[in-house]
Amino acid sequence: MKVLSLLRVRILLVAFFVLPLSALADQPQRPGKAGIASAHQLATEAGMEILRQGGNAFDAAVAVSAALAVVEPSSSGLGGGGFWLLHRASDRFETMVDAREVAPRAATHDMFLDEQGNVVKGRSTATALAAGIPGEPAGFEHISKNYGKLPFKTVLQPAIRLARDGFPLNTRLRGGIVAKRDTFNAGAAAKVFLNKGEVPEVGFIIKQPELAKTLTVLAERGADGFYKGPVAKQLVDGVKKMGGIWSLQDLAEYQVKERQPVYGEYHGARIISAPPPSSGGIALIDALNILSGYDLKTIDNATRVHLVVEASRRVHRDRAQYFGDPDFVSMPVEQLLSPHYAAGQRASIRMDRATPSDSLPSITAPPAGTQTTHFSIIDADGNRVAGTMSINFFFGSGLMVPGVGILLNNEMDDFVAKPGVPNGFRLVGAEANSIAPGKRPLSSMTPTFVERGDGVMVLGTPGGSYIMGMVLLATLDWLHGVPADELVKKGRYHHQYMPDVLSFEPGALSESEQATLKKYGHNLRESRQPGNMQIVTWDYKSGEVKAVSDPRGVGVGVVY
Ligand code: DON
Repeated sequence: MKVLSLLRVRILLVAFFVLPLSALADQPQRPGKAGIASAHQLATEAGMEILRQGGNAFDAAVAVSAALAVVEPSSSGLGGGGFWLLHRASDRFETMVDAREVAPRAATHDMFLDEQGNVVKGRSTATALAAGIPGEPAGFEHISKNYGKLPFKTVLQPAIRLARDGFPLNTRLRGGIVAKRDTFNAGAAAKVFLNKGEVPEVGFIIKQPELAKTLTVLAERGADGFYKGPVAKQLVDGVKKMGGIWSLQDLAEYQVKERQPVYGEYHGARIISAPPPSSGGIALIDALNILSGYDLKTIDNATRVHLVVEASRRVHRDRAQYFGDPDFVSMPVEQLLSPHYAAGQRASIRMDRATPSDSLPSITAPPAGTQTTHFSIIDADGNRVAGTMSINFFFGSGLMVPGVGILLNNEMDDFVAKPGVPNGFRLVGAEANSIAPGKRPLSSMTPTFVERGDGVMVLGTPGGSYIMGMVLLATLDWLHGVPADELVKKGRYHHQYMPDVLSFEPGALSESEQATLKKYGHNLRESRQPGNMQIVTWDYKSGEVKAVSDPRGVGVGVVY
């Protein structure tokens, strides 16, 4: 805990020195309207329903998160965890609610290795051993009790209704069910997601009566209804039967943590983002610090891409080297957030030459799908929530605990199974992110607020190792005057240090930009990329609130 408090003091010190008051000067009292953007229309509506009942952004955040757990079960759920970045308008209090999964007490450093010390393929993703102890139910109760206005029971009602009465299957979720069909057929999930063993057609009503029951117990008894008593027993028995190692004590001891966000500054704008156990906020701020030495607004696009990639390469290298759960490891946070450190990193960037990742001090990248989920909210009083929740890969491990309707996450794959061996997102890491009982796996989830003199943006996205880079591109675009509804449509590019590849979405780079980047020595690869960004912006001058959902997904943004 000493490490944690030191870390807090350091983060606070940095915050104190870098926060530009100019970013706050023009903020009016309240927007008077609310905006919610989430990955599913029914989840956005659930949030709106709660706002109409007199709830604030925090009540709506719980309602949206719980609804997403039901209608987007491939991406997050009661069996997973998440980070919720909160801003309370009345006193400008900011915090991040960390309800990340933790490794069970019986977890061991080498649990994903065979006797020869090699990583066993699939063990950290497709088995019950892949599941960390869930944090999401505790996170819901924590946010509701500490920040909401309405009773916890009330805010869970839309989710309970959606689980009990069902919702129509869309193409996106159907695609995930096709991919997981065999796993589902072998277990309890078949009853929920398949129709007599077959993948149902679009429009089929997915009902989750067991999940509705679990949500009802949670609503009535609070988090204890999940972490203690009959639900806990069913969870532990179910996980054990499938070969897992959860115990009743693991569940009873689960704790939500509040963490001081990390703060940064970029050309007068204020950045508020996710601290460890996310690597996202620090990497985002370090990348912005590196990039603040260039005039990206006027530079040609190929050079701009080159510089963003060089910054990303360097911050992802540091992620691999230093990052882990702050309650277990000490990280050079102050150094990584310092403009002087960024200046040193900038000095090694050549304007016309890619830096091979191998030439950086060594330690050890992409595709995923669009698992995990994000939503953004600003309410009429100016309270904000950026929430990113996950069960890691599509439908987690695909294993469902019978009786409670809960899918197990495979978040244990976010740990380093063995130094240098890439995980499912091809991320490498060091001892800082090794497995230990009670430890939180390092995350890339980056819920973020960006404040400039004339407005604020609340944003985030799923996408595993791609997340920080997507938030970085959106931040730069918005600060360079591109409105949220345009920036979400733009083609994206990505670099994560290892593998040493600059990947880009079809259409993101012109032929001549590709030629220039190749000449600089970048290894280019065109590929589809995960991303389902949800943004809410509030323009102080016009008073306009916008809620924007990534066209790559099926989400919906609504202003009320
Ligand atoms: O916490 C993390 O970094 C990952 N578990 C997030 C996974 C994710 O975003 C999957 N989306 N494609």
